[in-house]
Amino acid sequence: MIRINGLEKSFGKNHVLRGVNLEIKDGETITVMGGSGTGKSVLIKHIVGLLKPDKGRIFVDDAEVTKLKEENLFQVQKRFGYLFQGAALFDSLTVGENVAFGLHNLRPDLAKHWKDVVAEKLSLVGLGPDVSNLKPAELSGGMKKRVALARAIAYEPDYVLYDEPTTGLDPIMSDVINELILALQKKLKVTSVVVTHDMKSAYKVSNRIAMLYQGKIVAVGTPEQIQKTTDPLVKQFTTGSSEGPIKMQVKAFE
Ligand SMILES: Nc1ncnc2c1ncn2[C@@H]1O[C@H](COP(=O)(O)OP(=O)(O)OP(=O)(O)O)[C@@H](O)[C@H]1O
Ligand SMILES: [Mg+2]
Repeated sequence: MIRINGLEKSFGKNHVLRGVNLEIKDGETITVMGGSGTGKSVLIKHIVGLLKPDKGRIFVDDAEVTKLKEENLFQVQKRFGYLFQGAALFDSLTVGENVAFGLHNLRPDLAKHWKDVVAEKLSLVGLGPDVSNLKPAELSGGMKKRVALARAIAYEPDYVLYDEPTTGLDPIMSDVINELILALQKKLKVTSVVVTHDMKSAYKVSNRIAMLYQGKIVAVGTPEQIQKTTDPLVKQFTTGSSEGPIKMQVKAFE
């Protein structure tokens, strides 16, 4: 279980997280939605200790991530797969080496037959074994994303954090990724946090959906509850309307 209590984070004068409270239960998939720049990526980086909060605490089971350092933090990080927004592959390594990256440290037992692990994980994300020898520069944006996803699940983590897993993918590939998120939850009992703007994906993969707005979680509910909500803020976001309480600062052409 992941517990986030009163999380606050500023960058200079930019007060991004203003007291986030959220509990993620074992085995559930929770989606965090919210406008661009609201702090979704910042939030999930705190869960694995990549960022330190100004205030607040995060627990992964009994471990307080926000207090841990080095070796103890690494022990918690080992349990997480992280799909970074924008893939973040190592350009100088092949696809296979990218997927296997981390296996040596995290799962020496799997590292012994890393080529099989790579082929298996690539096939899970719909890529053939031939892709393994290519360099990231030779891949399309969608392929890079799938390779990054294969890397995130290579060492069979307990938790997976997906930062915009379907952004930039065509609708069919998006659905392949959605099915994969569901399959990981079902087969491996993975607990997941998904950050997405893609409502179709959110409704399909989530047990619960949380909305981040002005630095706080302002609504949490099942996909059905979120779909039926009369809350104007949530409604505006899920229907993608420019009319409503969320005011975008766009200057009209003069
Ligand atoms: N390392 C950093 N240093 C300074 N400011 C940062 C840093 N990381 C994020 N920010 C700022 O924090 C705010 C939230 O950023 P974040 O990347 O979490 O947004 P987001 O909700 O993930 O947006 P998007 O949907 O566009 O990915 C932004 O204003 C961003 O500029
Ligand atoms: Mg982001």
